[in-house]
Amino acid sequence: MLLYTLVVISHLSVTFGASCNCSPVLVPVHVDVVVPKDPTDVFAGLKSNSSDLRRVDDNYNIYGVFCQPEIMPSRNTGVLQLLVHGITYTNQYWSPSVEEFQNYSYTAYSCERGLPSLAIDWLGVGLSTRPANSSDVQYPTVGAALSQVARQLKTDSLLPGVPPFRKIIGIGHSAGSGLLTFAAIVDGARSPFAALILTSALSDAGAAPMAPSPIIPSAREDTPLRWGALDPGYITAPNRSIFYPADPAAFSPRMQFFDAFTRDVGSIAMLAQTGVVSLAAQHYSGPVVKVLGGEDQFICADQRCEDVAALSAAEGVLWPAAESFELVVLNGGGHDLNLDFFAAEAFRTFVSFVQKFSP
Ligand SMILES: *[C@@H]1O[C@H](CO)[C@@H](O)[C@H](O)[C@H]1NC(C)=O
Ligand SMILES: *[C@@H]1O[C@H](CO)[C@@H](O)[C@H](O)[C@H]1NC(C)=O
Ligand SMILES: *[C@@H]1O[C@H](CO)[C@@H](O)[C@H](O)[C@H]1NC(C)=O
Ligand SMILES: *[C@@H]1O[C@H](CO)[C@@H](O)[C@H](O)[C@H]1NC(C)=O
Repeated sequence: MLLYTLVVISHLSVTFGASCNCSPVLVPVHVDVVVPKDPTDVFAGLKSNSSDLRRVDDNYNIYGVFCQPEIMPSRNTGVLQLLVHGITYTNQYWSPSVEEFQNYSYTAYSCERGLPSLAIDWLGVGLSTRPANSSDVQYPTVGAALSQVARQLKTDSLLPGVPPFRKIIGIGHSAGSGLLTFAAIVDGARSPFAALILTSALSDAGAAPMAPSPIIPSAREDTPLRWGALDPGYITAPNRSIFYPADPAAFSPRMQFFDAFTRDVGSIAMLAQTGVVSLAAQHYSGPVVKVLGGEDQFICADQRCEDVAALSAAEGVLWPAAESFELVVLNGGGHDLNLDFFAAEAFRTFVSFVQKFSP
């Protein structure tokens, strides 16, 4: 059965050289979950009494860019990478949409090595459905939409000629890793994700900044021309400097400019509920790796990432049923591992784990 609708948005279709084909897709999902009535509940309702919860039962479309090698490797393992961006980003984090930065595309890098991917936009973000009320955009709804997409990829054909995938490997960045963690907590042993590669996320990332605030303003106040009609609970982050290493020689200043120019929105809940990453994924049974940038000003501040063995032990405790748990610190990389001069090392690392997790 073909459940997916191909949307032809021609200027968004991309081809990397001759070896890789990419198509925009829209995946319809049905979400029926409970969310906290208070969107700033740091545990996203997982620790709430039922009187503090409300139900969200809705249909959404999740947008994504699917890329696959033009000639699939003869030893096609049926593995798909599901790429999940962080807050105020979109699928473009995995493939910056300008020629100058094409070699910063993880999508292209992995595709050239035989690995297909689907980079989605979160519910509420980019070209996915944006609920009118930002308080419907919370970890439970966004996470359920993500799991639904992963499940459908295993049962249905994404596009004509593309059979369902056998294994879905989730690769997250920052709050995208938080979403995959939330989904692993909720789905447990029934998770549609065979393995998780969680980048730029630790279980105690510190208190999230408050929003709206001068650093995290309402999107409609920040950019009225583009977002003036949005509910004020949709926020954005105009200053991206914390996402890069402190050393200005470690990244292209033009990349930071491009990053600010292409930023998107998040919701107050998606910022506030990052506390979910401090909870254990008791029943998730696939292998898990965390990949951090040693120069991440946000996650690795105060030399927190120097003692890798201790950090790995502390984080591994939260994944008691995982087939394996590893933690890797890439020296030099910042929070946005994909966007600085150390990106090639990050890409090599992600691909090596995908290969390890897809025997
Ligand atoms: C949930 O309800 C119990 C019993 O009524 C109460 O003790 C507890 O504090 C409540 N928890 C929260 C998070 O409100
Ligand atoms: C958004 O939804 C919440 C929960 O149903 C409700 O309390 C709030 O009033 C809604 N906001 C708007 C602007 O409709
Ligand atoms: C962005 O934030 C950094 C601190 O993280 C600060 O040093 C810098 O001045 C800010 N840039 C702008 C344009 O506000
Ligand atoms: C892309 O190319 C530029 C210029 O050669 C280089 O500085 C940068 O590190 C490259 N990025 C990646 C991810 O390979």
